[in-house]
Amino acid sequence: MSEKIVLTGIKPTGMPHIGNYIGALKPLIDRSKAHKTFMFIADLHSLNTMHNASEIKQHTYEIAALMISLGLDLNNTALFRQSDIDEIYQLNTLLMNVTPKGLMNRAHSYKAAMDKNTAAGLDIDAGINMGLYTYPILMTADILLYNTDIVPVGTDQKQHVEFARDIAGYFNTMYGQTFKLPEPVIGSDTGLIPGLDGRKMSKSYDNIIPLMAPEKELKKKIMRIITDSKTPEEPKDPDTSTIYQLYKFFATESESAEFVKMFRDGGMGYGTAKTILFEKVNSVLANQRTEYERLLANKSEIDAILADGAMRARAVAKQTLERVKKAMLG
Ligand code: TRP
Repeated sequence: MSEKIVLTGIKPTGMPHIGNYIGALKPLIDRSKAHKTFMFIADLHSLNTMHNASEIKQHTYEIAALMISLGLDLNNTALFRQSDIDEIYQLNTLLMNVTPKGLMNRAHSYKAAMDKNTAAGLDIDAGINMGLYTYPILMTADILLYNTDIVPVGTDQKQHVEFARDIAGYFNTMYGQTFKLPEPVIGSDTGLIPGLDGRKMSKSYDNIIPLMAPEKELKKKIMRIITDSKTPEEPKDPDTSTIYQLYKFFATESESAEFVKMFRDGGMGYGTAKTILFEKVNSVLANQRTEYERLLANKSEIDAILADGAMRARAVAKQTLERVKKAMLG
């Protein structure tokens, strides 16, 4: 096992989709087999936009059940709920004092919220709470609390990890060597994962296939993939086909090759191709979905896993916090 410590957080904002699975979750799970990993459900981070406690709680269970059922290595991984770690609130408060305000002003997420207000003719800070404004500090606390080396994230979170690195550096300069400098790892050579309409699969385009959709819904979604109007006989280009672009992530190499051949030769209609895609995705995810549903019906099992994860995480967190308090307060 590598010595590098990997950490990532997932916000409990809803069911991830197949694009998230291919681009982020699957690589995380694969990585957990080879690294000591801290993985948490970032419920505190969801608070700046979500205000319904039972919704946050339910989504938290869903993400936990999802990661477990997809095969997260629980020997190597502490899987926990962010809000269960008392040390996180404390480190967050302490780090406030080494974080320049100007750094927060430059955060993409805050700037995007301001731009939206300006475009709507509203006050520049309308609807922006301090949770959003200081979001990168809490995220820095997440990362530094567990002596993290590597933070696998999507490009949208890269700046936040760079901020964590900056803040760790400021702290070390001010108080002496205390934190390791974490590194963002931007995943995936997976390229673009298309949604139902061929654009990047994204909640904001309303073109997603939910990861743990019941079989019927999965089928309905896949059948709705938009295609051109080629007849079954006409040859088709797999590289521009959403159906094939999704199929190749689930199929074996030889299955993919066969699919490509049938497309190029002509003779396979889009309806048939979609059915093949559905059957493939469904069979790959069937066992996981059963396990996912079983876990959600037995939440005490999830609670036990999260409690164990929190215990393991806090063992490290306590030591870090002590070190920081000593450096700052004596
Ligand atoms: N901000 C991340 C997101 O929105 C979630 C997150 C919170 C996170 N804390 C983290 C990711 C620490 C990596 C490391 O997706």
